[in-house]
Amino acid sequence: MIERDALLAALEWQLAAGVDEVVGFEPANRLAPPPQRKAPTPPAPRVATMPVYPESVLAQDLAGVCDLDALRALLLDFDGCALKKTATNTVFGEGPVGARLMIIGEAPGADEDRQGRPFVGPSGRLLEQMLAAIGLAREEVYIANTVYWRPPGNRTPSAEEVEACRPFIDRQIALVGPEVLMLAGGAAAKTLLGATEGIMRLRGRWRVLAGQGGPVDAMPTFHPAFLLRSPARKREAWLDLLAIRARLESAHP
Ligand code: URA
Repeated sequence: MIERDALLAALEWQLAAGVDEVVGFEPANRLAPPPQRKAPTPPAPRVATMPVYPESVLAQDLAGVCDLDALRALLLDFDGCALKKTATNTVFGEGPVGARLMIIGEAPGADEDRQGRPFVGPSGRLLEQMLAAIGLAREEVYIANTVYWRPPGNRTPSAEEVEACRPFIDRQIALVGPEVLMLAGGAAAKTLLGATEGIMRLRGRWRVLAGQGGPVDAMPTFHPAFLLRSPARKREAWLDLLAIRARLESAHP
């Protein structure tokens, strides 16, 4: 009985520390001596895998990628972001090329990590209702995140993690070619706009993002997860949605 209580206490402690997913089925013995190092092997011939580039070089490299499938394939091979090590799935953006509205969130959560698709949990359900309120179906918009792997315990991705993934979102924006970007939450707004203010100050005001495919109107707004916790802020989010709808309608009345 004591052993059971001790085990439960250890599990609770892990949950509180954000360890809420099973990453491997076999427990890792972190106290075991490291494996014997093999004698160095001669350099292998160059193979066409994605090297871990410094961000600026990677951005140049991706500039030549001309469709989303090729970009996704590069992301699956990309090892430049540590979040990949603890995630179950890579969560690439989804939606049609040429979508008039592109939504950028923060990071996949537990549901997205399990299914490998963006915004499929409770936040996704609210997002779909928000879209429906302005006459849009999920299938019509392109939905992506600033990072492609779930941060352990759903913590906010670090500046380095976001920076490492940045060229992939820049390229997705250029390939999708939206008329309007909805930046959902402070992480997406700050990352893409290079802003230092928080979402409370940023939301509701149009900004222009100088994208690789040309300038795009961007509306920062609250993240659906925040709205689930603070429903009183839905009024402001609604005003932002109306502004998005008006901008889309003015382009194609
Ligand atoms: N929150 C996000 O920012 N993105 C998702 O895909 C899910 C939840």
